[in-house]
Order: sequence, then structure tokens, then C-alpha cells
Amino acid sequence: MTPKAPRPSRRSAVEPFIVMDVMRAAIDREQAGERVIHMEVGQPGAPAPRTVIAAAHAALVDGRIGYTEALGLRRLRTRIARYYGDRHNVDVPIERVAVTTGSSAGFNLAFLAAFDPGDRIALATPGYPAYRNLMSALGLEGVEIPVNADTRYALTPALLERAHAEKPLKGVLIASPANPSGTVMSPDALAALVEAAEAQGILFISDEIYHGLVYAGSAATALAFSGNAIVVNSFSKYYCMTGWRVGWAVLPETLVRPVERIAQNLYISAPDISQKAAIAAFDATQELETVKAGYAANRRLLLDRLPAIGFDEFLPVDGAFYVYAAVNRFANDSVDFCRRMLAEAGVAATPGPDFDRARGHGFVRFSFAGTEPDMAEGMERLAAWLR
Ligand SMILES: Cc1ncc(COP(=O)(O)O)c(C=O)c1O
Repeated sequence: MTPKAPRPSRRSAVEPFIVMDVMRAAIDREQAGERVIHMEVGQPGAPAPRTVIAAAHAALVDGRIGYTEALGLRRLRTRIARYYGDRHNVDVPIERVAVTTGSSAGFNLAFLAAFDPGDRIALATPGYPAYRNLMSALGLEGVEIPVNADTRYALTPALLERAHAEKPLKGVLIASPANPSGTVMSPDALAALVEAAEAQGILFISDEIYHGLVYAGSAATALAFSGNAIVVNSFSKYYCMTGWRVGWAVLPETLVRPVERIAQNLYISAPDISQKAAIAAFDATQELETVKAGYAANRRLLLDRLPAIGFDEFLPVDGAFYVYAAVNRFANDSVDFCRRMLAEAGVAATPGPDFDRARGHGFVRFSFAGTEPDMAEGMERLAAWLR
């Protein structure tokens, strides 16, 4: 008898993360010898800071790369706690800091520690797709709340309270700066939302992965307004360490031990070598600010060039490294549009349905995290293709 092939679980039926599929198609083309301009993935074009690489070398020379405590190396946790004092004037005890395998693992741990199957968590749409896909794999319900220009593409107390009144929410997750919109919430808007959530007993989760990458206004941490919020952050973006898979979460006291227990069992620890290297990232400010100046130049270039070639409607680009632009002038299906753009212009970008299933077909996200020459070439190629 032929053995029966295993059938995937129902919970595995999450939607693909389309940007990763686009990246795969782009890499296929590169393997076939074509040159592709990558404007799809939110990945810094610059390497990790020199001091980070030197710290990793030193760890390799030492040779002992082991497990760490599940909550992370104490030296790194101490440095992370200090960052909140230095940058935000907020006192965070080291005991509340958990080092994670990228912010992705931070979300997994936070959701598992704080929510039970069936719990409802509010999300702004358009938003980062892995939130709702991870929630769905965990049996949680991501409640997508459409946001518009009238709230600068951010959730507001009124939107949250309305959704909670319709059916109770257990949590709300926001990102500021946001992906794909780039919007930064003002400190007052963030404070008001944290207060509204907590007044209703809704757990506030703040994704602060794009902190450090703000071009207009300034980004406050939710920790400035509450000791009960969960803050998730990462070395992937500002610190240029995507592949090192290291991030962190700051947890309310009651969730520290639950997160520790789950982390022990799920991951044992975040990569030791990446943790040792990440300690140096906080002091690489000069190098990282130079990288950020490159993003600022790319942002200027895109804000100048995109309207000239017909992408004249996009969301605010206050922070992060994305332009989320309407494509309705060229197409009514951004998935097909992106496929053609990759095949015919050699420019990879992410179609909007990754971020907004209802309205995303009318949008494309361009990432400007790449190098300045690549971004300039991307704009040239698009202009020539659309002519
Ligand atoms: C808003 C947001 N949160 C979280 C992540 C996950 O990043 P990582 O797991 O590398 O920390 C990303 C990656 O693109 C993101 O855009």
C-alpha cells in the first residue's frame, strides 16, 4: 500500500506573505542572469555596522557560540533597557526586556502569552500582513479596521471604541512608523490611543521596529504612556541587521514569566552570536545615521520622481522606508501590474493586497531601503517602462 501523504493542518492555511513570493520571483530572474532592482522587501541595502561585525568576529574567534538564557544575554538586555532611558527618558527595568529571534518571534511570544484562541485583536488596515496571518495560525482573530487619510492612516480612540462596542476586543496592535503607509503617530495621538485602549481593558501592543527612521515629526514609545503595554522592536531595520534575526520585546511584569516559559520551549534562545553583536549596534549611531541620510535622499528622489511618472497619489511618508502609491492610473489589479513591472522593467515592488485585502489591488508599495544608485536606476527604468 502506498503510504498516504500527510495532509496540512487547517491552521496552516494562512495566506502567503506576498512580498516574499515577489522576492522569490525576483531572485529566480537574477539566477537566470537578469539584473533586478529590489524595491519589494523592507531590507536595508547597507550591511550591519562595522562594530557589530567586529563583535561577531570576536565571538567566532572565541568560538563558544551557545544557548543563552531564554530571555537573552543579560548584557544585551541591560543595554536595551538603557536605550529607553537615553532615547526616551523612560525607565525600563532589565527584568521586563526579552530578547527575541527578530520581532517576528516577539509577536509570536506576545500573542501566545497574552491571548487565547478566539480572542479578537484590532489592527489598522493597510498594515503589515504577518500580524493577521500569524494571528490566524494561532487561532486568534485579527480585526481589520480600515484607516484613511482623515485619521492620517492611523487608528484613533473613536475607531477602536466603535470596534470594541460591536464585539469586544482583547488587544490592539499598532505600528508607528507604520508599514506600508509610513505614517508616524504624534505623541499625543499615541497617548490618547493607549489611554482609550487601557480604559476598555484592551491590551496595547506597539510595534516600534521603524523607530529611528523618522523624517517628519518624532516617534514616541508606548512605554512613555503605560507600563502595561507590550512593545516589540528589532535590530532588523534601523540597525541594518535583518538576517541576524534578533529583536526584543518589553513586557508588562505579569507577562514576563509566561513569555520566558514559552520562549524556553519554542526557541530556547535567540542566536547567541547575533545577541553578542547587537550590543554594539546601539553605539554605531554615526554609521547608522549616515545610512539613514541615504534613505532620506532616496525618499526625496521618490517623492520627486514618482508623481512625474504618474504615481501622484500616495500615503504620508513620515517614516520607515516605503511609499504606498495608488496605481489606478495604470491598472486596476496591482498583483498583475507588479508581475509585469518585474518581467518587463526588472523592478520588483509589492502589490497592495499584502497589506489590505479589500483595497490593496489599487496600490503598490515601493521600498526605498536600497542603495541610492539602485533607487535612481529603479526610477529610470519605471519612467522608461511607463512611457
Ligand atoms: C512592521 C513590521 N513589523 C515586523 C517586521 C518583522 O521584522 P523582523 O522579524 O526582522 O524583526 C517587519 C518586517 O518587514 C515589519 O515591516
